[in-house]
Amino acid sequence: MVKISVLLSFVFLIAFGFVVHGSSATKEVGVYEIKKGNFSVKFTNWGATIISVILPDKNGKLGDVVLGYDSVKDYMNDSTYFGAIVGRVANRIGGAQFTLNGTHYKLVANEGKNILHGGPRGFSDVIWKVKKYKNKGDAPKIVFAYHSFDGEEGFPGDLNVTVGYSLIGDKKLRVTMKAKALNKPTPVNLAQHTYWNLGGHNSGNILSEEIQIFGSHYTPVDSELIPTGKIESVKGTPYDFLEPHKVGSRISKLPSGYDINYVLDGAAGNKLRRAAIVHDNMSGRMMELLTDAPGMQFYTSNSLKNEKGKGGFVYQSHAALCLETQAFPDSVNHPNFPSTIVTAGKTYKHHMLFKFSTPAPYS
Ligand SMILES: *[C@@H]1O[C@H](CO)[C@@H](O)[C@H](O)[C@H]1NC(C)=O
Ligand SMILES: *[C@@H]1O[C@H](CO)[C@@H](O)[C@H](O)[C@H]1NC(C)=O
Ligand SMILES: *[C@@H]1O[C@H](CO)[C@@H](O)[C@H](O)[C@H]1NC(C)=O
Ligand SMILES: *[C@@H]1O[C@H](CO)[C@@H](O)[C@H](O)[C@H]1NC(C)=O
Ligand SMILES: *[C@@H]1O[C@H](CO)[C@@H](O)[C@H](O)[C@H]1NC(C)=O
Repeated sequence: MVKISVLLSFVFLIAFGFVVHGSSATKEVGVYEIKKGNFSVKFTNWGATIISVILPDKNGKLGDVVLGYDSVKDYMNDSTYFGAIVGRVANRIGGAQFTLNGTHYKLVANEGKNILHGGPRGFSDVIWKVKKYKNKGDAPKIVFAYHSFDGEEGFPGDLNVTVGYSLIGDKKLRVTMKAKALNKPTPVNLAQHTYWNLGGHNSGNILSEEIQIFGSHYTPVDSELIPTGKIESVKGTPYDFLEPHKVGSRISKLPSGYDINYVLDGAAGNKLRRAAIVHDNMSGRMMELLTDAPGMQFYTSNSLKNEKGKGGFVYQSHAALCLETQAFPDSVNHPNFPSTIVTAGKTYKHHMLFKFSTPAPYS
């Protein structure tokens, strides 16, 4: 595994790092690594995307625990959102429209009549600037920045967005998302769309991994995955992960797997609280996720099918799980959901903290 990952890094370095000619300026798409001990995370500024996370397992063997591609060109033409930052509004907005303060906004639909993850050219499909990059010291860090223009994919107002990733303490990854509305009120809902498989990106599926989700309620959806507006208890449903369960324990009760927003317990906004804990008994890897976001979309990569990924490995349905902390989907059309509107001059903030470990005894 060590040799493979070293070889892969080399392949990345030679395969990436080419130039894309943008409309206004020539911008470079590259690969960046931040590393602390043998914990390494690699990124591309295409979509402010995480392309690899290398971690030891219980025997100290290193492995890459996120799905992705060998070449950045594959990220430019994907429909999976592997590792990317999605926005301006993550998740779905029903009918690709909303009314804000008397003005009706029509967005660019990309999933039937609805809009998903900010539209056909959302934040996951643009070149971000590398604003800061420090791969040294106690807290190696990279910060990406993107200026979203007024009317982009139909959204109102200019928006300055930054996403920072840093490695802190012992195997902790902190994600800091900020977006300042410059001149008009706008909905903002950013999400980090990494596909995790703690057993290794090429280990098969996540059905035997155990997950605990700290959300006693969820937002039910219609047949197009648009929230009905109700908030229901997970009690007695396959969505109840208040106690740890294997991901696959009740998945067959759902049409194709999990793709649902949880209302996270505890107050959103001020401090980090636990969203989820995932444990893979085979590798011994554990991941704890904390956030200040109101909700979390739990997605078991239901639509992956014959997706050719890193090292030629072909990903199938349930090859990974996504823990996309965010506001509730379609909030702009549900006054009873926490508001996602950022008024002009104000800044949206969203934090995630991933803690990785290999706890010794686990039963
Ligand atoms: C990872 O780091 C630890 C602590 O520095 C070290 O003991 C271990 O040998 C390293 N593992 C690998 C595979 O490099
Ligand atoms: C982009 O993806 C589509 C299908 O999703 C495929 O038909 C097309 O060949 C791809 N283009 C490139 C340049 O890889
Ligand atoms: C709605 O419009 C009024 C009048 O233009 C303005 O004072 C108010 O701040 C606006 N509300 C938002 C959320 O921007
Ligand atoms: C917004 O971003 C642009 C481009 O990075 C920058 O020139 C401008 O100063 C920023 N504006 C504010 C108010 O931060
Ligand atoms: C994890 O594996 C150990 C043996 O390696 C076993 O004793 C334990 O029951 C397993 N736990 C779960 C939750 O599968």
